[in-house]
Parts: sequence; structure tokens; C-alpha cells
Amino acid sequence: MNSTLTEREGLVRPGTPAMRFASSMRGFKARVFWAVTLLIVLMAALLTSVSIYEQDTTLKRQLYDWGHATIQSMARDSELGVFSENTDFLKSTISNLEREPNIMYAVIYSDSRQILAQTNSAQLPDPLIKSVPDVIVNEISARRATLWRESRHMNNSFYEFWAPIIGSEAPVDDERMLFMDESDDTDNKAAVAEKTRIIGYARIGISLQMARTAINEAIFTSMAILAITLPIAFFVTYMIAVRITRPVSQLARLSEAVAGGDLSQQIDINRSDEVGKLASSFNRMIRSIKERDEELRKSRDELEQRVQRRTAELYAANQNQLQEIAERKRAEQQLREKNAELESMQMQLLQQEKMASIGQLAAGVAHEINNPIGYVNSNMHALNKYAEDLFTILDIYEAAEPLLDPQAAAARRVVSVKQEMDIPYIKEDLPKLLRESQEGLNRVKAIVQDLKNFSHTDEGEWQIIDLHNGLDSTLNIVANELKYKAKVVKEYGDLPLLQCNPSQINQVFTNILVNAAHAIENNGVITIRSGVSGEYGYIEISDTGKGIAPEHLNRIFDPFFTTKPVGKGTGLGLSLSYGIIKKHNGRIEVASELGKGATFRIVLPIVQPVAAPA
Ligand SMILES: Nc1ncnc2c1ncn2[C@@H]1O[C@H](COP(=O)(O)OP(=O)(O)OP(=O)(O)O)[C@@H](O)[C@H]1O
Ligand SMILES: [Mg+2]
Repeated sequence: MNSTLTEREGLVRPGTPAMRFASSMRGFKARVFWAVTLLIVLMAALLTSVSIYEQDTTLKRQLYDWGHATIQSMARDSELGVFSENTDFLKSTISNLEREPNIMYAVIYSDSRQILAQTNSAQLPDPLIKSVPDVIVNEISARRATLWRESRHMNNSFYEFWAPIIGSEAPVDDERMLFMDESDDTDNKAAVAEKTRIIGYARIGISLQMARTAINEAIFTSMAILAITLPIAFFVTYMIAVRITRPVSQLARLSEAVAGGDLSQQIDINRSDEVGKLASSFNRMIRSIKERDEELRKSRDELEQRVQRRTAELYAANQNQLQEIAERKRAEQQLREKNAELESMQMQLLQQEKMASIGQLAAGVAHEINNPIGYVNSNMHALNKYAEDLFTILDIYEAAEPLLDPQAAAARRVVSVKQEMDIPYIKEDLPKLLRESQEGLNRVKAIVQDLKNFSHTDEGEWQIIDLHNGLDSTLNIVANELKYKAKVVKEYGDLPLLQCNPSQINQVFTNILVNAAHAIENNGVITIRSGVSGEYGYIEISDTGKGIAPEHLNRIFDPFFTTKPVGKGTGLGLSLSYGIIKKHNGRIEVASELGKGATFRIVLPIVQPVAAPA
């Protein structure tokens, strides 16, 4: 909504009238007011001064003219009295002057400067009027004209007029007024002096007091007029200043409002002058700013909407892309996982194949050795029997030996062969050799059994077995790895037969035992415990090796995780073991303290929960 500033609004201000006046007397208005006021005061002062000066001059001129006329007529009128030295006549001549308030004194002197008559009301002390200065006498004699001068006595100014009293046919040239003027025509004066004679002097003093009083009155009157008119002039000036400056201050306020962003106001000045034109062009300017503002706002709104639409589109596109990226990342991750799984499976297969072929090889070797061992073993039994028989016969023969003819060639031959062969030693050594051979044979038999146990190729994959046997066989197989490093302590508990895949479980034992041997740097102990916990049997293999760092604990079952130098370890042993035990529905637990050793615990169900896989 448009509001309108009217001229009247300029006068409405809060506060006391003095405050309102003070606050309104600022800026342009104040300047106009003070300028006009100063002008008025200066003009008034100038006019008053000029008028008083004029009055003063006029009054003085009038007094001068009047004094001049008076001394002329006094000189003329007293000519006869001076001539006849009739003082009474002279007194009466000047008595009318006593009534004149301006006349301070009037004196008539003889040519010898004696006072012939004087006004009664002489206001000057005698010494002044009693003497006639030489300079005056000389001047008058020389010029024969009226003299005038302004004198002071007791702070009073007055005009003094002198005139010669001439007794002759020729009159005094009263047109020539001189004041100590030296530049007169001396020829003319001489001519006048020849025809006339100065018989006395007239003198009057005219007070300026009345003129001063009149001037003072005039000043007073002027002041009174000023005192009345100046406030009116100030008020009028103020009103004019207000009138002149109100539209300007209104324009200033409005332009401040416009600068502050308020375009709702219009100025209401109906004048045809420049201010009116300024106001109407200001209003036009506000209207066009408003229209432009409106247009700008509209286009800004449109732009904002477009930006918002575009941002939303971009956001949506971005979201789609982000989603696509996330999906692609997920797919990549899945691919990587699958790849790793495949790699791990491949490695496991390879390992299993390796182990299987080692197992097969071992089983083949075991089988091949088993047959000769069978008959060597039975031969050994026969050999023992035969040896015993032979020794029995030998004993019998030796008992019958003294009965033989020592000279007989046969007897001699028997003794020498006996001595050569050292029969007692053979009797002592042969059973020993046979025993040792049997022992050796037994060991070969055990190795073959171990190989069989290890590979179990001769038996079905899933069996119910004694894990202790598997452990022992494995220990025998890895004996080489352990013998210089660790003492093996067996603390076997009560472990029932378990359903498992023996060759795979033996692989697990092998790996854990070899890891334990590797972890022991010099001499250590490997302790094997077993037992039952609920429906599970367990085997625990502890070593006194270097232990596993805590940050490695949850990584040791990862495929390819190894701390061993390149070429020494593949990092697959534990991951394969983990897979095998998982397949057995069991679990592997590990506990370790760095520098003190590690304990691996294999937990297996005594009975597989479902039918053992083929
Ligand atoms: N008893 C143990 N004491 C200390 N560290 C061990 C022990 N057993 C396993 N580890 C750590 O676990 C890692 C992984 O063992 P894993 O058997 O999987 O691989 P590997 O022995 O390094 O190589 P390989 O494939 O030849 O067995 C080892 O490199 C070793 O750092
Ligand atoms: Mg290993």
C-alpha cells in the first residue's frame, strides 16, 4: 500500500516546544533561517545606523543654518546699539534669544572686545565669554565674514558662531561662510575693509544637547521598533525557512526511506515550482524503481525456481549415479570375494590333491613294503627257531666232544674250525643279531602302519577312529621336524572313538605340529592333551614358542597369511585346517601370549550331527 508524506507531517515532532524547535533547527532549514536572520539583523543595523547618521547630520545642519542666520541677524540688529553704545538697546536686542532653548549664550562685544551685552542665561562661565581670542579677531578682521567652530566645554559639545558688527555703508558678505579658511581672495577683502569698519563682535553658543537628545530619542525609537519588529522578522524568517525547507527535508526523508528499501511512500507536494517538479519526478522515480524491483523479483523467483528444478534434477541424477556406483562397488566387492573364495578353493584343492597324492604314494610304498616284511617276519620266526635248534645240537655235540679221539683227523679239524669261528662269540652274538633284526623289522612294520594310518587310502574316508592313533602316526611322520627342536609331552585323556575323515584330521595335526616346531626357536616343549567336554572331544596342542602377536590373532586363519619368509610358508596350513574342522562340524580355538607360546584346541563332535558325508 502506498502512503503519502504531506507537508504538514514535517511539523509533527515529539517533545517540548523548545526541544522540537532545537531538533527542527538543524541542517538546511537552520542554515536558511540563520542566513536570513543574519541578513535581516545586518540590514536593520545598517538602516538604523544610516538613518541615525542622517538624522544627526540633518539636525546638525539645521542647527548650523539656524545659528548662522541667528548670528547674522544679531550682528545686524545690534549695529546701532553698538554704534551708540546703548547697552539697554543691545540687551533688548538679544533678550529674545534667551527664550531659545538651544542658545547657551549670546554676547555682544565692542571693537575693543568689551562685553556690551550678554544673555542672562549664559551657561558658560565668565572666563570663556569674557575673552575674545585673538585668532578670532584676526580672522574676522581679515575676512569680515561669520566664523563657526565646534567646541567642547565640560563634556558638552556646542557650536560657536562669531560675526563682526560692522558700522558702514557696505554690508558684510553674509554669503561667505568661512571656518579658519586661509584661501580667500585678499584683494576683495581689502576693498571691503576700505569701505567698512568693525565696531563690535557678536557671539552665540548653540548647545548640541537638544540635538543629542533628539538623536538619542531617535536611537531609542529605532531600538524599540527593532525590538518589536525583529522577533516578528525572526518568526517570519523561521516560517519562511520552514516553508522553503519542508519539501526539501521531506524529499530527504523519503530518499532515506527509499535508500533503506522502503518504496511504499510517495511525496505529496502540489506545487508548480522547481520543488514541485522535483517532488513529482521523485515520485516517478520511486514508481519506476518499484516496477523494476517487481520485475527483478519476478525474474529472480523464476530463476530460483529454475535453479531449484535443475538442482533437483541434478540431485536425482547424482543419486542415480551414486546408486549405480554403490551397486557397481557391491558387485566388484562380490566379484573380489568370489575370486578370493575361488582362489582359496583352488589352493585347498591343490593342497588336498597334494596331500592325497602323498597319501597315495605313502599307501603304495606301505603296501609294497608290507609283503616282503610279511615274509621276512615269518622267516625271522623260522630263523630264530632254527638258530635255537642249531645251538641245542651244538651244545649236545660239545658235551660229546671229550669222547672223540683227539688224534683223529676229524677231531682235529673240528677243533681248528671251532677256534677259527669263535663259536662262543657266535653263540652270544647271534641271538642279539636276531633280536635286533626283529626289532628293526618291527620298526619297519610300525612305519608302514603309520603310513597306512596317515593315508588311510586303504580305508573309507569317513571312519570312526581313535584320534590318539592318528596323533601318534602324525608325530612319527613329523618326527624329523620336531626332534632337534622340542620334547613332545603327551597328556592324553579319555577320548572316545570319533567319526571323522582320518587323513584330513591328520593333515590338521601335521600342520599344527609343524607350526609349533617352527615357532620354537631353540629348545621347547610341545604338550598334547586330549579329553572330552560334553558331546565334543578335543585335542590341545601347546608349544613354548614365540607366540602370536595380538594383531595377527584374527588373521592367522586367512588364506595366504604368513609371517614366514618367502618360500618358507604359503600361509595355507591353518586356513585349510580351519576348513577341514568346519567340515567336521567342529572348531579350532587359539590362545597365545607373545613370547610365551600358543595353544591350538581342536574341538570335534563325538558323533557327527548328520550322516557323515560320503
Ligand atoms: N604355534 C604357532 N606359534 C606362533 N605362530 C604361529 C603358530 N601357528 C601358526 N602361527 C602363525 O600363523 C601363520 C599362519 O600359519 P599357517 O600354517 O597358515 O601358514 P604357514 O605356516 O606360515 O605356512 P604353510 O602354508 O607352510 O603352513 C604363521 O605364518 C605363523 O605366523
Ligand atoms: Mg603352517
